[in-house]
Amino acid sequence: MKIIVYMAVSANGMVSNKKGVPDWLSPEYEQGFVRLCSQTKAVIMGKGTYQILAPDYLPLKNEGTMVVRTRKPAINSESNIVFTDKSPAEIISVLERRGHSEAVIIGGPITVSEFMKAGLVNELYLVVEPVLFANGLPFFQNADFEYRMSLLEERKLNGNTVQLMYRLNYT
Ligand SMILES: NC(=O)c1ccc[n+]([C@@H]2O[C@H](COP(=O)([O-])OP(=O)(O)OC[C@H]3O[C@@H](n4cnc5c(N)ncnc54)[C@H](OP(=O)(O)O)[C@@H]3O)[C@@H](O)[C@H]2O)c1
Repeated sequence: MKIIVYMAVSANGMVSNKKGVPDWLSPEYEQGFVRLCSQTKAVIMGKGTYQILAPDYLPLKNEGTMVVRTRKPAINSESNIVFTDKSPAEIISVLERRGHSEAVIIGGPITVSEFMKAGLVNELYLVVEPVLFANGLPFFQNADFEYRMSLLEERKLNGNTVQLMYRLNYT
């Protein structure tokens, strides 16, 4: 299973401002988000991200699988949404059983950190927005790792936003 992380960051590496309001994201970030979700048809997110997007802005409509990490999993009537407290490896098994071969993690920091700690992320997209947050939400939480990466692509998405695409090197 190929796991892709797609995250927007401030120029100083924060993934949210102090207010927790995503008012700093460019339309180009959103376009990339929609494109990757519809490419993979499997999307992994934390509960906060789900609450921001649901119900109108969830990236998959009546297709694929959206996995929402929560400590309070509940049975859900929408068959393409799985609320789970399972580990990253178990989530990958669930997705493979549902026929997926790749998935994108769209945030936030705990979800990304758990998959990173487990060494399960293959590609990382960073969409660097032209903002600085002295106080905000750091990219990783409760994690202690150091990985090397290869830069596969850099793209200017608009006059101010840059996208960096990396491959994680674990060896
Ligand atoms: N920059 C970006 O691209 C980007 C993308 C997405 C989000 N964000 C930011 O990140 C913030 C947090 O988003 P998020 O809540 O989706 O991120 P997260 O940090 O990945 O997930 C936090 C949620 O995960 C659940 N959780 C925590 N520990 C768990 C465990 N051991 N097992 C299972 N579930 C666990 C909790 O849900 P319960 O309380 O339900 O247990 C918690 O609310 C957002 O508000 C947003 O500001 C930024």
